[in-house]
Order: sequence, then structure tokens, then C-alpha cells
Amino acid sequence: MPFSATPPEGLVTLSANARTVLDKRYLVKDKSGKSVEKPEDMFWRVATVVAEADRRYGASDGAVQAVAEEFYFLMTQRRFEPNSPTLMNAGRPLGQLSACFVLPVDDALSNGQSGIYDTLRSMALIHQSGGGTGFSFSRLRSKGAMVRSTTGVASGPISFMELYDASTDAVKQGGTRRGANMGILRVDHPDVLDFIASKEDLTKITNFNISVGITTKFMDAVKVDGSYDLLDPSTGQVTGQARARDVWDKMILGAWRTGEPGVFFIDEANRYNPVPHLGAYEATNPCGEQPLLAYDVCNLGSVNVGYYVNNGEVDWEAMRRDIALSTHFLDNIIDVNKYPLPEIDSLSKRIRRIGLGVMGFADMLVRLGIPYDSAEGVEMGRKVMEFLDVEGKKESERLAKERGAFPEWARSIWGPDETCARDENGERIRPMQLLRNCNVTTVAPTGTISIIAGCSSGLEPLFAVAFMRNQAGVMMPDVNEDFVAIAKSEGWFSDELMERIAKTGTVKHADVPLKWQAVFNTANNIAPVYHIQMQAAFQQHCDSAISKTTNFGYAATQDDVRAIYEMAYDMKCKGVTVYRDGSRDNQVLSTGATQ
Ligand code: CDP
Repeated sequence: MPFSATPPEGLVTLSANARTVLDKRYLVKDKSGKSVEKPEDMFWRVATVVAEADRRYGASDGAVQAVAEEFYFLMTQRRFEPNSPTLMNAGRPLGQLSACFVLPVDDALSNGQSGIYDTLRSMALIHQSGGGTGFSFSRLRSKGAMVRSTTGVASGPISFMELYDASTDAVKQGGTRRGANMGILRVDHPDVLDFIASKEDLTKITNFNISVGITTKFMDAVKVDGSYDLLDPSTGQVTGQARARDVWDKMILGAWRTGEPGVFFIDEANRYNPVPHLGAYEATNPCGEQPLLAYDVCNLGSVNVGYYVNNGEVDWEAMRRDIALSTHFLDNIIDVNKYPLPEIDSLSKRIRRIGLGVMGFADMLVRLGIPYDSAEGVEMGRKVMEFLDVEGKKESERLAKERGAFPEWARSIWGPDETCARDENGERIRPMQLLRNCNVTTVAPTGTISIIAGCSSGLEPLFAVAFMRNQAGVMMPDVNEDFVAIAKSEGWFSDELMERIAKTGTVKHADVPLKWQAVFNTANNIAPVYHIQMQAAFQQHCDSAISKTTNFGYAATQDDVRAIYEMAYDMKCKGVTVYRDGSRDNQVLSTGATQ
């Protein structure tokens, strides 16, 4: 039975800002560029396509229709949003619904599949479909190494990263956003210092984020001020040694100067690789929250956790139901997705990776009256992520019983065949659990979908209480509605106060009661240690990694950055990204203070 073309009647709560963003970027357009659908039509298009997957598992017409309606209201009431490619592409010719991919780059110009230029082509196809790509360039021989076929010398990983960057400029993602990439080089690659310096010039390699793949051996050498081995990428043989602290200091200097490189704790990430028998993690997606195997893909979605606070209480029951529905939604995506490469299609169906995360976490804390930078705030972070993880996995287990576990389950870290399930001390890495999905949870940045949902992004603190937001070239005013409502109800609101907050970038003004100064403290005014504590708290209950920026004030020193990097490692984070206020131009979000 075909779905009705018109969306169901019922409460839809999209803001004017959300409608603007959707109109500008996601709604289907005619030849003149005018939208031919309303946001409601778009959400119904997505809901019906995703619900269709249920039919493959025996759902009746009526059941599919009912699930489509549930998905529709889940999104239009802003309780959950899937990643942007799902909104853009569901039910349209491209039909590619995922945000994150990792492709292998082999040390050959072409080997028919994963040589440098083969992968360049795959990258273009993925960008065209709205996805972002991550690569490890660690297998490429170093600059100056011999090239046997021509007896010339190799130009090294950085030159090929530049090639990928140039190609990215030429292909807009899904025709709507700039391509995004992650470039990773292992710290034991002989060209690591060139890699660290490769983005010193802010006008270069602008379509890449870069991170150094940091090993445990390297961190051990940093701790004792020792050296570590640099390895030939082709043979694995030792080609030289470097003093770990020298390399560490250069990374820290770069991060302090420009925010790059970030670090990816590659051994820590691999410890929780659910399917090590299929390969190791060597790279992440562009924003770092998703370590992936070669040809791996992840479709993300985020629950707007601030939504569930009513009168200072969390409605855990309602959140539980929505986490289940969202998990079901993301699992369905795997079946209806049109993948850009057959290798990706095949792996995706064997491991069925999904990435359910949160957004609106800062709103949640505000509505509970808890400061982000407090022990209570961090505890709440841990609790919410644990809840999401446990409830998401319950639904994944239910789906496994109904539809089958992911095909590689038995040999995975969740399964009964314990070759992969135990660590070097013989301990199970994860308790055995029947699951439909090899990974269930991750925390994405939610850059666009948090605007659509009208909530704070990911697990980040509030960026500002009043500010101008540059969204796809349009400056949009943004004031925190919770703040305005509280100020009005308590009688200390004024337009002049809001202007002062926008100009100064802080709520620390005498007319704001101290309690609210603490609760509405914003990212730049939160001590970096709290950023990392929050990231670590979320990481404890998250299968994948966490997208998090640790903000520093302009005056922060390199030692401040170093302390945070080392703390993140000690607290078992899978990566760190820092940003020192004012250290780059073109910030997407800008408070008055940095204008
Ligand atoms: O909010 P939205 O779904 O648009 O994306 P996000 O949560 O900010 O980013 C999630 C992932 O989408 C990133 O880690 C990238 O893999 C991908 N992405 C991209 O490919 N291109 C962008 N311009 C932004 C994000």
C-alpha cells in the first residue's frame, strides 16, 4: 500500500531558524532553485522511506504506516534527528543516507581498488552523495623514498593529502556543503613532523581536519622522556628514532596555534574495535567521533535530551521510548541506504554499525539548574550517556531477536567465540550480548541538526547566551530561550542586558543572579579540565568516540594545552581537539568578545 503523499496531521514544532536552514539546504528544489517541498514534506519523505525497511521483516501495511508516523513526529517534534545526508537524500535519486566513511589508501598509484587514485575517485563519489571521508595516509612511503618502477623518489603522504584536498574543492557534498575529510598519520611514520606542520598555513589543506595517530608506545616514551621508533611504512622496519617529547611538543604547539593537529589515540580506539577479525581502526570520520575500518560507514542520529526535562524533572520513560524508536530508525537506514561502493554496502550489512548520540545536553543541564562545569554536571553526563547506551543496546538486542544479529556477531567482541572478546589479560572486553549492531552509540557534533532541532549541539556546553550565528553564509541571531524565560519570570530581563551579553560574550553581569551566572556559563569560560572530564564521562558509556572541542581562552599557554592532552589520555578518551579562542579566522560561531 503506498503512503499518502501528504504528511500526517499533528503537532509540529519547528522554529523559524530551522525552516530557514532546511529551505536553504535540504528541501527539494525546482530548476530555478525554489523549494518544491515544505519541511513537513521532507520529514514525511524521510519517515516513509525509513519505515519501509520494516516490511522486509514481515511488518503489515498498517504497521509500516504506524511506524512511519512515529518516525515523522519523532523528527518534527525535534526529539531526534538523523544526520544531514538522511534528510537530504532519503527518497531521492542518490539515496545515500550516511555521514561518515573511511577509505583505505594503499601505497600504489592504482591497484584497481584502493591505490591513491582509486581512492581519490571513491572519495569524490562519497562527497557527491553528502558523506564525509576519513583516511589514514600511514601506508604511503615517506617523502624521498625510492619508487622502484621509475627509480624516482616518492613525494610522500602530505603531497597526496594536498591532492585529495584540491579534488575536494571541486566536488561539493551533495551539491550543498563543502566536502569534509579527516587525514590521519601514525606518529611512527617517518614524515610525522611534516604532517604536524602541514596546516600551519591556514590557507592550505582547508578541506581536511588532521590528527596524529598516537600509540601507547609513544605515550609511554613521552612519560619517561624517551625515544620511540620510526617505522618504514612498507616493511615495518625501524628507520630511525625520535625523542617523543620533541614530537609531542610540536603537536601541542600546532594545536595551541591553530587547533591542529588533533590527536587520535589509536590503540585505545582499537581496544574497543568490535570486529578486530575484520581489520583494525586506522582513521576516523572528519569530525573524529567515529573510528572506522577500511570501507566502513556509519549513519548517525541524535536524541535531543533537553526535550525530556519538564518542570525540573527528567522524563526517563519518554526518553527510553524515543531511544528505542531512534535505534530502530538507524537500523532501518542500513537496509534502505544506497551505498556509493559495493565494498561499503557489503561491510555495512555484515556489521550494521550505527551511531546514536545526544544533542541538547547543555539545555538539559540548564533546565535542571545544574552548571556544566560542576561535579554534578559531569555526573549527569555520565548518567545520560549510560542510559542512552543501555537502552539503545536493549533495542538493538530486541531487533537482533526479531531480525537476526549482525552477521559477524559470533566472532565480535560481543559474541560467544572468544578469540576477539578477551583482552591480553584474559578479561572480556565487553559483556556478551546479542546485538543487531556492532556499535550502537557515538556522540556527533550535530552542527546542522542541532539548529534544525533548536537545541544546543552534541554534548557541548552553551556556546553563548546571545550571539550571531553564521549559517551557510547567513548571519542569524540566536538568543537562549531558557535564559530569556527565566530572566522574564524572575523580573531581571532587559533588552539592554541581552545586548551586553552578546557584546561581551559572558553572562557574568551584576544584574544576573549568581546561580544563573553559574548555570549559563559558556564554553569559553568553562575551565578546560571540565571539558575533558565531561568528554571522559561520556566516553565511559560510548561504543565509538566523542566529538568534543576543549575551548581555551586566548591567553592559554602551551603548557595548558599539554596538561589537557595528557589528562585526556590518562582518562581514556579516544582523541582530543582543542581550540584557543581567536586563534583562527572564520569561526562558525562567534561571540561578541571575539569579533
Ligand atoms: O548536523 P549534521 O548531521 O549536519 O552533521 P554533524 O553532526 O555536524 O557531523 C557529523 C558528521 O557528518 C561528521 O563527523 C562528518 O563525518 C560529516 N560531515 C560532513 O561530511 N561534512 C560536513 N560539512 C559536516 C559534517
